[in-house]
Formats: sequence, structure tokens, C-alpha cells
Amino acid sequence: EKVVLAYSGGLDTSVILKWLENTYQYEVIAVCIDVGQGDDYSSVEEKALKTGAVKAYVIDAKEEFVSDYIFPTLKAGATYEDDYLLGTSFARPLIAQKLVEIAEKEGAVAISHGATGKGNDQVRFEATIKALNPNLKIIAPWRIWDLKSREDCIDYATQNNIPITVTKKNIYSRDQNVWHLSHEGGNLEDPWNEHDSEIYQLTVPPEKAPDSPTYVEVEFLNGVPVAVDGEKLSPLAIVETLNKVAGANGVGVIDIVENRLVGMKSRGVYETPGGTVLFQAHRSLEKLTLDRMTMSFKKIVSENYGQLVYDGLWFTPLREALDQFVDSLSQTVTGKVRVKLYKGNCTVVGASSPYSLYNEEFVTFGADEVYNQKDAEGFINLFALPLKIRAIMNEKNKK
Ligand code: ARG
Ligand code: SIN
Repeated sequence: EKVVLAYSGGLDTSVILKWLENTYQYEVIAVCIDVGQGDDYSSVEEKALKTGAVKAYVIDAKEEFVSDYIFPTLKAGATYEDDYLLGTSFARPLIAQKLVEIAEKEGAVAISHGATGKGNDQVRFEATIKALNPNLKIIAPWRIWDLKSREDCIDYATQNNIPITVTKKNIYSRDQNVWHLSHEGGNLEDPWNEHDSEIYQLTVPPEKAPDSPTYVEVEFLNGVPVAVDGEKLSPLAIVETLNKVAGANGVGVIDIVENRLVGMKSRGVYETPGGTVLFQAHRSLEKLTLDRMTMSFKKIVSENYGQLVYDGLWFTPLREALDQFVDSLSQTVTGKVRVKLYKGNCTVVGASSPYSLYNEEFVTFGADEVYNQKDAEGFINLFALPLKIRAIMNEKNKK
């Protein structure tokens, strides 16, 4: 029987590969989904086969990741607990979807992954697998075996002739893709400790950023970014371009304590340079084009969308319905936004849209021909009527 393993070429998943063979006599199909981890994929396939896989796949899913997962979430204005731009969260359903496709193609009976039993990732992988193919078995070795640590894994690898390159002790648990890089664990586990900016990989610390600001212009069509500084680019190229320019200016780092779905709080540092620019720019365009009632309702949708993505519930009727709502509102979220990047700050300094509801003729402090100030008197009389009636009642009772 065959099992499909989400494989990275690192220590953990190499050990899992062998363990699946040793424990269940499975034939292992190693699958590495490239969502922008920045690993050396040429060696991954070879490594998997050397470790004992019967077959290995490396699949470049970066463009699909940006257009089908990241941009819909951006359009929805979704964050988790206000700050987290969901970098790891929405990569998981994509990866799991690919694993299911390959499992079906190869006639595998199970899927295995290297997420621990304490985190969100296990939930996201497994919820997706269950949603897409309820017949596949799921094997999460970290919840089964008695290896407890990195050291145990190294011992297992040595005993089983697993070709590993034991790199310098990695103190942080990291996850990188085209949208973000997360850091958890190590000295971050005490929330009293200030994080060390030496850990950044996509961003420079603000202190080391250039002394003069950089301006960048992002163009949106129906809520989706389509160009940077006047140049039409693919979704992936837009994110990559903005990552570079925002990262160089120290933009996009957050350091937060978050509530994991499985109950405990965790502390993480997240680098999302390009994403931070896109998120701010998109929001400023909405402020120009959406009316007050709509914006207020959209907030509820953003909040729910963010939670759903965090919780790994991508393949649900609710997400599909929310996407339709967001698409409908996004019809006017078209235009240009100018952003200033300076020493860790990302400030929107200009926005324009053919659908802008901002009307200078009405709002001007100067003379106008369109607004009758006398209308406001009657409006306020009725708007504040309940306040007035209550005050009259209070007066009566005082006597
Ligand atoms: N806490 C973040 C999340 O739940 C990041 C998780 C990072 N995952 C990892 N395997 N290092 O989305
Ligand atoms: C893990 O436990 O595998 C990483 C952290 C998380 O999933 O939240």
C-alpha cells in the first residue's frame, strides 16, 4: 500500500519517511509543494529517493498560491486577531489539496504530514483532507511515535542510515513561503523577552533601513493588485517585488501573542513585507470607494473570513459564500494607491479611483453649490430626538 508524505527534505520529514516504511511497510511517495519556502528543490527529489521513497514529486504551486489563496484573502481584508496576515494558515489547505490530488492519482490509501500535535497546522492539513476525500487515512507521526525531540530524530536517522545534513541547531520553528516568514519557539517563548532583530530574513531592522523614504505605487483591479509602479505583473511577481522594496525599508514585522485553535496562546514574530503594503493599500482604496454601511458590514465578513482561514476551514461553503460577497463589493475596488515606506513604517499617502465616492464639491470647507447647510437642522432634530425625549423625562422626574 502507498502513502503520500508531505516532504520537505529536512530532518523531521526524512525521519517520517523511513518511519512510515519501518512501521507500516508502506511505499512512500514523497511530495514537496513549493509555495516559496526558498529551499533547494533540486536536491529534495534525490534526497527523498535516497531515503527510500518509491517516487518523489516537487510541485511549484507559487503562482496558484498567490492568485487562488492569498489574493482572495487580501480582497476579504482578512486578518487573524487584527494583526496576523495568515501567512502560514492559507498555505496549508493548498498543500493538502495537492497531496490529495496526488494520493488519488497514485492510488494511495493514506496521507502523512510532519505537523506536531500541539499546533494549528495539523488541523488545517487534516480538515482539508477530510473535506476533499473522506476515504483517505491520515497519519500524523508526531502524535504517534515516541520520538520526543530533535535529538531523538537525529538518533533515529543515524540508526536507519537516513542521509541527513545536520545543520546548525535551529532554535526557532520557522515557516516560509512567498507571503511570509514566521518565527516561533526559542527565546520567543517568554513573552517578556524582546525579540532579536537578527532573526529577520526578509526584512532589515528599521534602524538599518535607508534614511530617505521609498515610494511605491500599487494598482488594483476589482480588489486585486495588478501592477506596481505602472508595470503590469503576475500575482506572484507583485508579491515578490513588494517583498523586496518593503523588506529593504524594514516594513512588515509584527511580534504578537495569538490564540491557537487548539487552546493555548503562542508567541510569534512574522515578517510579511509585501503583504503589509498590499493590505494597507487595499484598505485605503476601500475607504475611498465603499460607503459607510457597506464598510461596517464588510468588517464582520473580514473578521469571520480571517478566523475561518486561521482555523483551516478553507474548503467550506461559508468561505465560498463569503468570497461571492467580497467579489460583489470588489467591483469598485479599482484604482491606484501611493505608499511611502520609511524605516519600518508603511503609510498610504495618496489614493485615487474612478469609483471614488469622495466628492470634493460636497466636502469642501470652501464655498459650494451642491450642499444646503439648512438641511442639517431638520436632520439633527430627528436624529437626536430620542436624546431630547429622554432628557425631558429626566427633568420631569427630578421635580
Ligand atoms: N502561528 C502561525 C499559524 O498558526 C504560524 C505557524 C507556523 N507553522 C510552522 N510549522 N512553523 O498560522
Ligand atoms: C506545528 O505544531 O507543527 C507548528 C505550529 C502550528 O502548527 O501552529
